[in-house]
Parts: sequence; C-alpha cells; structure tokens
Amino acid sequence: MPNISGERLLRDLYELRKIGEYKTGVHRPTFSEPHLRALEWLAQKLPQASLAAEIDGIGNVLGTSAEAGPKLLAGSHLESQNFAGWLDGPLGVVYALEAARVINSDPNIQGAVEVAAWCDEEGHFGHFLGSRSYVGDVTDQDIDAARDRTDNRTMRAALQAAGLAGRPRVTAERGRHVGYLEAHIEQGRTLEGSRLAIGVVTSIVGIWQYQITFTGEQNHAGTTRMKDRRDAGLALARLCVAIDDRFPARSGPRTVWTTGRIALDPGAPSIIPGRGEMLFQVRDDDPEIVERLEALLREIATEIAVASRCGVDVKRLRTGSPAMMDDRFQRAVEEAASDFAEGRSVRMPSGAGHDAQVLATIMPAGMLFVPSIGGISHHWDENTDDADIIKGAEVFVETCRRLLSN
Ligand code: GLV
Ligand code: MN
Ligand code: MN
Repeated sequence: MPNISGERLLRDLYELRKIGEYKTGVHRPTFSEPHLRALEWLAQKLPQASLAAEIDGIGNVLGTSAEAGPKLLAGSHLESQNFAGWLDGPLGVVYALEAARVINSDPNIQGAVEVAAWCDEEGHFGHFLGSRSYVGDVTDQDIDAARDRTDNRTMRAALQAAGLAGRPRVTAERGRHVGYLEAHIEQGRTLEGSRLAIGVVTSIVGIWQYQITFTGEQNHAGTTRMKDRRDAGLALARLCVAIDDRFPARSGPRTVWTTGRIALDPGAPSIIPGRGEMLFQVRDDDPEIVERLEALLREIATEIAVASRCGVDVKRLRTGSPAMMDDRFQRAVEEAASDFAEGRSVRMPSGAGHDAQVLATIMPAGMLFVPSIGGISHHWDENTDDADIIKGAEVFVETCRRLLSN
C-alpha cells in the first residue's frame, strides 16, 4: 500500500501555483524568472526523496539516486504556456516527487524512482527541447538557432541569463531505467464525462506544424479598386475556410487542426496587407493521414494563391512523432487503478503532446491521466478536484511500485 501524503502533495502544488501566479493559473514561460524559481524549488525538494539534484545545461532538473536496484524515471515539466494553467506539467512533477519520497524510503521496495522536470515541453524555444536533449536528439546548432517565440530572445542569451550557459547537458545512461512514467491532467472531457478517475494512455499524438505565407501587394485601402487588389490577408482567410471545408473528407476520426496565429503585414486598417502569415498545426497518431493532409494543404494553398493573385509558401516547421505507450506500463496503471480507484479507468489516446513520447524513443514509457474540470487547459481556468488529484497520486505511486517490483 503506497503511503502518500495528500496534504504534502497539495501543499507542493499550491506552492508552485504561487510561483508566477496569474489569475487562477500561472504565467511561467521557459527561462522566465518564475520558471527558474520553480526549477530551484524542485532542486531543493529532491533531497527529501534521497535524490541528488542537478539543473543541467538545457534547464532540465534531474534527481538521481545512489540506490542499487532498478530505477524508474518519472516526471513532467514546470514551465507553462503564456498566461495558462497551474497543473499542466507540475502535476506530473509533484506526483513523481511524491512517488520518490514514498518509494525511496520504503525498505520493502527494491530500487528507486528518479525524478525529472523536462525543460520547454511547452515549446517556447522549440519543441520538447529538454527531453529531446536527454535522449540525444538536440545538437548545439539547434540551441544556437532557438529563439523565444514570444520575445525573440535567443536561447543562448536565456541560458546565459539563467546562469546555465556552459553547464553540461545530461543525457540518458542507456539501460539505467526500467522505463519512464508520466502523469498529467487529461486536458479533455473524456474522464469527467464518464465519471472515471484514471486515463490509461495508449498512444500520444504527433504534432505537425506549418508556416504558411501569402505575398500580395501592399497598397492604399481607399484608392485601390477591389478588382485591382492582391490582398494577402484575404488569401489567408480563404485558406482557413477552405481547410475547414476540405480537410474532413481526408482526415481520420481523431485528426485535429488549428490556426493558432495569423499576422498581417503591415497590419493597419488603411493598408491592404502585402503579406499574411499563419501558423497552422495538425495532430494525429497516424503519419499517413497527415501526409495526405499536407498534400491537400499544399494543393489548396496553391489554388487560393492563383485565385488571389498572390505568391504562397508552405513551410513545414515541425514533423510529428507519435508514440505508442508500453503494454506492461498500461497494464500496471490499469491494475493500480483497479486497487486504488475502484477500477474506474479507461484506455485512451492522448491528443496532447507529452515528454513521454520523446522518452519512448529510448525506453518503455507510460502515462496516466486524471480528470480536468470542464476539459479546460492551456487557459488559467484549468483545474482538477483535490480529491481526483489525490486519487491519481495513489494510483501513480502504486504503478511505480508495481513497475519496480516485477
Ligand atoms: C502540449 O502542451 C501540447 O500542446 O500538446
Ligand atoms: Mn503538459
Ligand atoms: Mn501544455
């Protein structure tokens, strides 16, 4: 029976919520002052779990055990999207910390839980830079090129300001871990809608991202007749509508797509935009479906460019890496939910990206979800009932125990 302390766990989460507090959530972008404080907060807590703490040269916090026996790696991330929720990331980090405190001090359990907070899961500077660095998938040139998507600060400058420049980046010691386990809020409505306590994650979606740029002609909004215009903004708007009309016929049952940002240049009411740029994302766990949709996207963009008398460029910025969760990990979560959550669990795919999909490239990985109130996330209203947080932690710690025991 894992003896977690619900009170200690909630206290930790509430302490983290105060760091960079914004309305009912947090504003803790990567390498901001509150993010760095959160990393320090964790580094100071890790010795409570008999772990040696280190913040490495990309901002990963790692808690390492000197115990003999099997090691399970567990964690999530501490930065947030801008002006967003308090649990996306910290829940998984605090569960890992609690699991390490409970398990690493239990003489009846062989081995240890090691803790990680991966830097920049939320993609302020790239995508999954911290966990990808740990698996050996980030070069120094990648870091040289990375910039903060909000203020354009270089990652090198951010690392320097954080006092992390020049520190080594820690990479995985192959064979050290039996695998990686991550807990997260669901960020959707499946669990809440069915009154379930635990989601047993089967797969994690891949995320493809595109920058689409139309180039028209900047001109006067009053004197340029409609027939003479080459309006890059109008071309972008046409593209959004055409995607929504034509994607469904070629998408899969769980494909989703989002236009997250549109920027018109120069962006003034009295000027016809000469340039329009959008960031567009497609998610699915089947790369073939996305290949099909990418071809369609290029076809539609070209048609609209011709009809709008604009140039167009479709650039893929990010290629998705969907991942399957390990069978044994899924079973362990399910069995733990059977013991500690009255079996109220369901197997489900993740529509959100998580560091577990990166760790899955080098070791067995698994995830569990707890319910999100109203399915809200990437918004400061994101929340989960305290009782669900505690139940999820019990299931998480029992899952760790099972994975270390057999
Ligand atoms: C992770 O935060 C995602 O956007 O899926
Ligand atoms: Mn997250
Ligand atoms: Mn997120």
